[in-house]
Amino acid sequence: MRIIDIINKKVENQKLSKEEIDFFINGYVGGEITDYQASALLMAIRLNGLSDEETAYLTNAMMYSGEVLDWSFLGKTIVDKHSTGGVGDKVSIALCPILAALGLTVAKMSGRGLGHTGGTLDKLESIEGYNFLLNDQEFKDIVKEHNIAIVGQNTKLVPADKKIYALRDVTGTVQSIPLIASSIMSKKLATGSNCILLDVKCGNGAFMKDIEQAKKLGKLMIEIGKQLGRKIAVEITNMEQPLGKTIGNKIEVLEAMETLKGNGPKDFTEIIYSSGSTLLMLANRAKDEEEARKMIKEVIGSGEALAKFKEWIKAQGGKVELLEQPNWFNPKYKYEIISQNEGYLKIKSAIDFGLVAMKLGAGRAKKEDGIDYEAGIYLNKASNEYVKKGDVLFTLYSSKPINTELEKELIEAIEFSEQKHDIKEVFAKLF
Ligand code: URA
Repeated sequence: MRIIDIINKKVENQKLSKEEIDFFINGYVGGEITDYQASALLMAIRLNGLSDEETAYLTNAMMYSGEVLDWSFLGKTIVDKHSTGGVGDKVSIALCPILAALGLTVAKMSGRGLGHTGGTLDKLESIEGYNFLLNDQEFKDIVKEHNIAIVGQNTKLVPADKKIYALRDVTGTVQSIPLIASSIMSKKLATGSNCILLDVKCGNGAFMKDIEQAKKLGKLMIEIGKQLGRKIAVEITNMEQPLGKTIGNKIEVLEAMETLKGNGPKDFTEIIYSSGSTLLMLANRAKDEEEARKMIKEVIGSGEALAKFKEWIKAQGGKVELLEQPNWFNPKYKYEIISQNEGYLKIKSAIDFGLVAMKLGAGRAKKEDGIDYEAGIYLNKASNEYVKKGDVLFTLYSSKPINTELEKELIEAIEFSEQKHDIKEVFAKLF
């Protein structure tokens, strides 16, 4: 078998066999297939797609490219959630400790930022000492003791996704339903979770731009999961505007913590309640949404969710005490964007906020780029807030001098109106 023949076959829009897909994954992980050959095949897949059968083969090959975890020794349901990626999406950082504080067991593998979207792993890595490279035994021990651990893709678990994910990020091959579905589902299946919530972000700031695409991706992932006996729910959530008031890494960790104290922004808090209650019902811990929401409210109100967050970060080596210090987030440069207009703010284009955050240093343009954990954006005003002339709209942060031209990009991404507009946090739920 030769990789060039497999590339040509996909360029001609022919179906690939299980053996061909296995050959690609094994060869790429093993180093016999180069980055440029893999990029060519990924681009052909982005352009010509994969059938559901090919997507299942790809998911399977990726899942078995490394170890597959077995949690049967715990005798518990393992819950997980995963987002397809958005701007300001810090849901996992706040939601997972809430679920753990409620007695659910969360064993999760997260990814790095992709394109204009941030990644949970980058955000967690901004906490000094946080170790996401746990070996199997460490991962299992932490989950057993604390009910929660979040690790990253590594050479043992789904090494294929680690390599392919980084390559897609810089070769224009992120935007593909079968590639996203196989990337997410291979990770979910390899970590052995049996109760999974998939948060499919939808809108201008997400990879899925419209509800039809989002539903297609959601249904495909439900189908793959069901074939392997997992309980899956999908929430299609709003990514027309950034989620919450922060975009970046450290700045988002702090917002997640504020939310665990009950002081989170309205839209972000609503997603936490919605996703949390869907998972509590899926795991048979709550009989209905009302009961589930009450449980979440209690665990936030009592401080147990925040305590669980701290316990988890500490268990993975993070210097959690630093997060309480006022200078933990301490960017050298700051630039305030002042409003020249008046009216209710509408953010038209979340993607521009993601791109500006990336340009400030919060994300990667090339796969070898580092991240500036201090870089990011604070939305002094969020959508539907009333803005007066002279008010600070947004604050940009970075460790490097800030290019003031970025102001224009954000001003073009917003508009003002005399009335508030409708914002829906959750568009649809699929089971
Ligand atoms: N999240 C993933 O894990 N993979 C993708 O391809 C996109 C979002």
